[in-house]
Amino acid sequence: MHNNLTVEIEARLPGPVIQLVRTAGRTAARCGFNSYLVGGIVRDILLNRPPADIDIMVDGDAVRLAGEMARQADGKLTIHKAFGTATFKLGNCRVDLSTCRGETYDRPGALPKVKPGDIRQDLFRRDFSINALAICINPGRFGLLIDYYGGSQDLADKLIRISHAKSFQDDATRIMRAVRYEQRLDFKLEHNTLKLLRRDLEMLDTISSDRLKREVLLWLGEAGPGKIVRRASQMGILPKLHPALKWNRPMQVAFSRSAACNAAGTPVITYFCLLVFQLGEDALYELLLRLNLLGSRYDLLSYQGLALKEKQAMLDNPSIKNSELYFLLRDTDPAVLQAVWLYPNPSMVRKNLHLFLTKLRHVKTLLTGNNLTMLGIKPGPQVGAILKKMLTARLDGLIKTRADEEKLARRLAGI
Ligand code: CTP
Repeated sequence: MHNNLTVEIEARLPGPVIQLVRTAGRTAARCGFNSYLVGGIVRDILLNRPPADIDIMVDGDAVRLAGEMARQADGKLTIHKAFGTATFKLGNCRVDLSTCRGETYDRPGALPKVKPGDIRQDLFRRDFSINALAICINPGRFGLLIDYYGGSQDLADKLIRISHAKSFQDDATRIMRAVRYEQRLDFKLEHNTLKLLRRDLEMLDTISSDRLKREVLLWLGEAGPGKIVRRASQMGILPKLHPALKWNRPMQVAFSRSAACNAAGTPVITYFCLLVFQLGEDALYELLLRLNLLGSRYDLLSYQGLALKEKQAMLDNPSIKNSELYFLLRDTDPAVLQAVWLYPNPSMVRKNLHLFLTKLRHVKTLLTGNNLTMLGIKPGPQVGAILKKMLTARLDGLIKTRADEEKLARRLAGI
């Protein structure tokens, strides 16, 4: 691989972002700093993948650099004084500026102790060699690839490799990140990395609920979450989240159906319901607690999934009326219904769920409560009752037009 990437940067980053990056490099040089693109952006440029947000590291004061850039740079600048970082927002792209640092960990899972460092130390503290690459952006050296830890060779060999033997112990979220990158990029875990990952699985217990939650939701937000969950199960990561969580045939069917139909449009919460659908009430509670999700929408919806299991027998009924189906399902979130529909349930259950999701849930009466009072019906509970009967008749195909609704309303009100 050649080591000047100016052409690749120009080809892959949007014009305004390149300008901002060049401004950062010029300003850093004026301040006497070296500045670099680092991490995911370098990996994605080298892999020719769509770039996400951009991280710039500088071996000097990042806040000062951002301040000096502010006059010449486009984009909305936010300074995070407490963290010594700054962010430019350019359209939907984020450019983060931070100071190079070295890190040490007092104990596994603790947040790192941080001290200013140079680019070599900064790259050393990173999770995987493919994320420990940098590109210099100072004028004169713009585009120069910095690769102390063999990242570009690992990109070419499609390997995920930790930078040092204690990496998973320092930060066990890297165990979950390793699987995410492996499956996202279709790479393999390098032999020793895999061995250390298995050795350090226990370290997942040192991770806080919020960090664990973040990683699980990042898995489920990837383009192919099923592959990640399957691999995590195979490597014993899933049972560390909860012993009852495992990849099995029904889960496989559900995840591959979701991939076949509109994977990109499937919300993370639906995938979460897929993940937890087979758990019993106690296991679900324990998992939600471990992930600090109690009281959240994930909690609410996964319990709705549990409740829907109780209704399976009613759904497995070829002669259920549309209105019965409607009132059975209307209080369940569509994301949950979609998840249950993806599971290998009896075909009648799936057919009824599909009918509700695609048609029945959108059915509305043409007349509103106001219209009814204008017909002379007294405001009060009677209006609600009549609207419900009108909706029932419409769902069951007994009435079609506005005139049909009016007629029915008058009959029911006795006017
Ligand atoms: N990083 C790390 N250890 C972690 C998390 C992050 O070393 N537990 C480093 C990696 O070098 C990573 C960078 O911080 O590249 C930024 O992290 P993040 O934004 O999570 O990842 P990206 O590399 O930007 O990748 P993506 O967002 O595409 O997953």
